[in-house]
Amino acid sequence: MKGAFKDGHTTSSSKKKRSEMVKDYATAMLVLSFSLMVLGSVFRRLNLPPPLNSTSFTVYPEAAHEKHKPVIRWDPRNSSQHLTSKITCDRSHYHYDTCSISGPTSLDPTTSTFYAIGPTWPKNFIEKIRPYPRKWENFTMSKIKEVSLKPGPRGPVFCNVVHNARALVFSAGGYTGNFFHEFNEGFLPLFITVRSMSLSDQDVVLVITEAHDWWIRKYVELLGTFSKYPIVTLDNETGVHCFSSATVGLVSHGFMTIDPKLMPNPTKLAHFHALLDKAYGQAQRPIAPKSTGQPKLVFVARTGGVGRVMLNQAQVLNLAQELGFDATVFEPEPNISLRESYRLISRSHVMVGVHGAAMTHLLFLRPGSIFIQVVPIGIDPIAELCYGHPAKEMGLEYLEYKVRIEESSLIEKYNTSDPILTNPMALHKKGWSLLKKVYLKDQNVSVDLPRFRGYLTVAYTKAKRFMHRVG
Ligand SMILES: *[C@@H]1O[C@H](CO)[C@@H](O)[C@H](O)[C@H]1NC(C)=O
Ligand SMILES: *[C@@H]1O[C@H](CO)[C@@H](O)[C@H](O)[C@H]1NC(C)=O
Ligand SMILES: *[C@@H]1O[C@H](CO)[C@@H](O)[C@H](O)[C@H]1NC(C)=O
Ligand SMILES: *[C@@H]1O[C@H](CO)[C@@H](O)[C@H](O)[C@H]1NC(C)=O
Ligand SMILES: *[C@@H]1O[C@H](CO)[C@@H](O)[C@H](O)[C@H]1NC(C)=O
Ligand SMILES: *[C@@H]1O[C@H](CO)[C@@H](O)[C@H](O)[C@H]1NC(C)=O
Ligand SMILES: *[C@@H]1O[C@H](CO)[C@@H](O)[C@H](O)[C@H]1NC(C)=O
Repeated sequence: MKGAFKDGHTTSSSKKKRSEMVKDYATAMLVLSFSLMVLGSVFRRLNLPPPLNSTSFTVYPEAAHEKHKPVIRWDPRNSSQHLTSKITCDRSHYHYDTCSISGPTSLDPTTSTFYAIGPTWPKNFIEKIRPYPRKWENFTMSKIKEVSLKPGPRGPVFCNVVHNARALVFSAGGYTGNFFHEFNEGFLPLFITVRSMSLSDQDVVLVITEAHDWWIRKYVELLGTFSKYPIVTLDNETGVHCFSSATVGLVSHGFMTIDPKLMPNPTKLAHFHALLDKAYGQAQRPIAPKSTGQPKLVFVARTGGVGRVMLNQAQVLNLAQELGFDATVFEPEPNISLRESYRLISRSHVMVGVHGAAMTHLLFLRPGSIFIQVVPIGIDPIAELCYGHPAKEMGLEYLEYKVRIEESSLIEKYNTSDPILTNPMALHKKGWSLLKKVYLKDQNVSVDLPRFRGYLTVAYTKAKRFMHRVG
């Protein structure tokens, strides 16, 4: 055990002498550390990584034997890293900001502040960031917890937990609760960011703000594919965590997309599918002997009064069966086990559904599978952006079924010559909330069966070919 304070644990007078020696901040940290020891309320769920000998972490002698309340003295003056510990932010992108501390940092979770240890710039320097990649939407962003980055002390700090790894900080707030957004602002940006770090061995600690218990439960396996360490849920922590560096904020390339040109290694949406397979798909293959049996079709249903219900779903299913599909209805519950849904969707050859958040399950389909998106009137650009383009990017066989006026329930409400039906783009100009009400909430569809049969027939041929190739 190294460190200058090995003798500091005997009397309170030596403690006093010691705190006089260090800077204000370190004193504050010391006081905080001791209060925490008294409260005994920290680190219920966190493991302490093994002590380090390459940098200057020192287990504080008084606490070393107290298993659950480690207090670690960390002297950046002894660290070779501190000279390069800089705070930088990149605010040049439309979708997101990121900030980082390039060297040792301590996190005070009670104020959501990361301190860069040992830098020399002015004490009042501060960067603030809301780590959610929806920067253009002020209203949403105003509800995201703000994280601060500040210069810290030049003297030693006291850490309750030391992680010999980089922290990656992001929010699981915002639109979390909607399946599309959980991927669009959550897991895809997380994937892009972690991959861009070119880590070996999942060597990053996820520090998550606004992480609800249900969200962690729902995504525990997927979160485990990004990091080998326990998650730090910032909102509930009270102890000081120290990291070898930190990145705050996630990188997004736009809606449901990964731009390989912006990645250090060629990475595509199909690689994200491979990650899902790692999280949820183990030991689920082989599916069936190749090229035999019926292709599996999964119909992703929408229920309830939130719009875009397929009113003749039963007839469509009958039709699919008549054409030779093994057809199943899938109605995702909010807290469904993703292992179960992955199993169902990834074994299917065809997925069919009306535009909506559940179409995000296209990420679960094996590349080469067939996806039919039924697109109600007035939402073509959204349907393309959220699912059409991603489907093609994933390497799916994408078929878009554009609903005609006579297949939409809007025809009961509006005159056939009404611009709402004939010129939806005019309404787009009037803003999202009207568009959402008219086309997303107030519209059901009833597809024309002979016309839909054509699409299913094409899908059947493609599915048979896919089965023959892949299984
Ligand atoms: C760290 O210390 C342990 C025990 O003192 C030793 O076995 C190990 O080789 C050291 N590792 C490095 C990287 O110095
Ligand atoms: C750490 O730095 C202090 C102050 O520069 C020095 O006295 C001490 O010997 C150093 N400890 C180690 C282990 O390098
Ligand atoms: C969002 O906030 C920024 C900065 O506060 C401001 O410049 C911008 O005009 C706002 N945008 C909208 C659409 O309100
Ligand atoms: C299910 O998920 C919703 C969010 O979609 C959450 O509000 C709710 O608490 C969850 N319920 C359970 C039982 O976990
Ligand atoms: C965080 O604290 C809240 C309220 O105190 C509690 O309901 C929740 O279970 C805690 N979450 C975690 C991940 O510990
Ligand atoms: C629809 O609007 C046109 C022109 O405004 C009108 O001539 C026609 O009678 C209307 N039809 C119905 C069914 O209301
Ligand atoms: C859409 O269909 C659902 C289920 O039948 C129904 O509850 C809802 O009222 C319908 N909405 C419209 C706008 O027709």
